[in-house]
Amino acid sequence: MKQDVIFTNDIEEALSRAVYAVGGDRCYVLCDEHTHQLVLPRINSPYVSQAHTIVIEAGEEAKSMRTVERVWQELCDNGATRHSMMINIGGGMVTDLGGFAAATFKRGMSFVNIPTTLLGAVDAAVGGKTGVNFAGLKNEVGTFAPARSVVISSRFFDTLPREELLSGFAEMIKHALIDGSSHLDTLLNVDVTSCRGEDMLCMLQQSIAVKQRIVEQDPYEKGMRKWLNLGHTIGHAIESHSHRHGRAVPHGYAVAWGLVCELILSHRLLKLPSEVVYALAKYIDNHYGAYAITCDDYDELIELMQHDKKNEGDKINFTLLHRIGDCAVNNAVERKEIEISLDFYRDLFHL
Ligand code: GLY
Repeated sequence: MKQDVIFTNDIEEALSRAVYAVGGDRCYVLCDEHTHQLVLPRINSPYVSQAHTIVIEAGEEAKSMRTVERVWQELCDNGATRHSMMINIGGGMVTDLGGFAAATFKRGMSFVNIPTTLLGAVDAAVGGKTGVNFAGLKNEVGTFAPARSVVISSRFFDTLPREELLSGFAEMIKHALIDGSSHLDTLLNVDVTSCRGEDMLCMLQQSIAVKQRIVEQDPYEKGMRKWLNLGHTIGHAIESHSHRHGRAVPHGYAVAWGLVCELILSHRLLKLPSEVVYALAKYIDNHYGAYAITCDDYDELIELMQHDKKNEGDKINFTLLHRIGDCAVNNAVERKEIEISLDFYRDLFHL
């Protein structure tokens, strides 16, 4: 799966190129209430100002088939054809939903993603996964459909809250762990909350290149793409746990704590050097704090891990690390080991 990813803060020029490359009959812009208000006025392009704009509600609740139907309806009512093009402008929710709506409308129209959050830029907008939540499950319905172009810019990050930047940065740390130690060393010396402009664009380029290399070789997640699940088996369980208990944490924060736990597993099961675990835990503790759990939460967390849609059969499957830059997929881990990793996590974070 080859995907054209353009790194620039000149979004207008990149968008002209992307629209020209598709050569469609008409453009439609999809955004949410937030990007409609904060971002659209800052994009000075006729492809945005003259397009029919579809505004959806912001937030995970709206990432549903109902919203997709509304998007399809607006496309129908406003003359879209299979040769039209959708420009998705927003965070991961907008690019996931917009990609899905476009990929299925009249059996597929082209779309371009302009992610406006760090998390959206490093993860959701690139790699061709699209979808919506269904029956209470995240991204349960969707399709693999690459955007024709993804325009990566740091221009809108100045409006992002600190939590949002840190949330995206956790996925960048994951990419660095998959990539190699010099990449990781660079990131662990960065304070993402004060990094803007060209520096941010350079870091994004290095980080997204890691995902692109993987997705090009394994677009449908048969093997190597599972590397990108590092930190996510325990991370998703922490995220769901936090929602269930009324103390919701951002996705990337849960991934950050998930990475620490899964590096502990990697140390115990695959001999990942302990220095890596300590260095990461220190960085995460300093910047993200801790997600408080006690041993009374273990059963529920493990039950949530069992529901991960990436498991096969009854086993809980983990992507782990032999060393930084050397991943191993499909590690079926015993319950006892997971409990031990949670014990160590609590020790490292003084819980
Ligand atoms: N978010 C991981 C992937 O795209 O495969």
